[in-house]
Amino acid sequence: MSEPGDPKPGTVYLVGSGPGDPELLTVKAKRLLERADVVLHDRLPGPAIIDQLPADRCEDVGKRAGGDRTSQPEINERLVELASAGNSVVRLKGGDSFVFGRGGEEAEYLAARDVPFEVVPGVTSATAAPAVAGIPITHRDHASSVSLVTGHEDPDKEESAVDWEALAALGGTIVVLMGVSRLPDYTDALLEAGADPETPVALVERATWPEQRVATGTLETIVAARDEVGIEPPAVTVVGEVAATRDRVLEYLANEPDGEPVEPDTEV
Ligand SMILES: C[S@@+](CC[C@H](N)C(=O)[O-])C[C@H]1O[C@@H](n2cnc3c(N)ncnc32)[C@H](O)[C@@H]1O
Repeated sequence: MSEPGDPKPGTVYLVGSGPGDPELLTVKAKRLLERADVVLHDRLPGPAIIDQLPADRCEDVGKRAGGDRTSQPEINERLVELASAGNSVVRLKGGDSFVFGRGGEEAEYLAARDVPFEVVPGVTSATAAPAVAGIPITHRDHASSVSLVTGHEDPDKEESAVDWEALAALGGTIVVLMGVSRLPDYTDALLEAGADPETPVALVERATWPEQRVATGTLETIVAARDEVGIEPPAVTVVGEVAATRDRVLEYLANEPDGEPVEPDTEV
């Protein structure tokens, strides 16, 4: 018998998991995960959340044996198939499904096939990763605008999909997702466009995971800092004066792994 708050049969819930700390799941996300008939997830929600999912109701649509991924068309079709069979379905994504999460594509696909769905926003890494590293993406003294962009460019494209020149001219904070490997490309592009070489930059890897790591520097030094700390995806890049806020709060910041602030001299 269904109870108040149970997910509806035949409905897909596009749920954001937040950046990885299970305590940053929304109350609604947690309830749906506990009660949905099926949960489709990939790896980005992180081990702390994935390990708590009930294995008998889960489908991993991330990496497959052989290293390739379940394709987006296959995932779309699976959502329709499961919902049409009367299941309540959670499609779980890291952060917020509608921020570089293909949630929009899934919503359009479901709508076109008359499958009811609900969007359950999550805490996006675009704001959470800087925040837990002591970096506010806006600040009354330093930044009154934020640009949220992808650093993951299609290698086949000759021109960047992101107008770095315009971003350099705009100022404010630039938050880059999927931007670890192409960091040299876009820091160069910003410098060539006239950005101040001393502009503070921070990289926050696996934010809110026990393995969280941070590298800081400037537009000129951040590539060396990335390599010295060994930053790997998933990580968020923050470019702008706000990134220097970390230095001013670090001594008192309890969001570092193990609750211990990183000593400033371990920074690069
Ligand atoms: C495909 S995008 C998905 C973004 C996600 N929908 C969100 O709102 O956070 C993947 C990128 O998100 C960022 N990301 C996601 N979780 C992260 C975390 N815990 N720490 C740092 N970056 C994270 C990284 O830039 C990663 O390359």
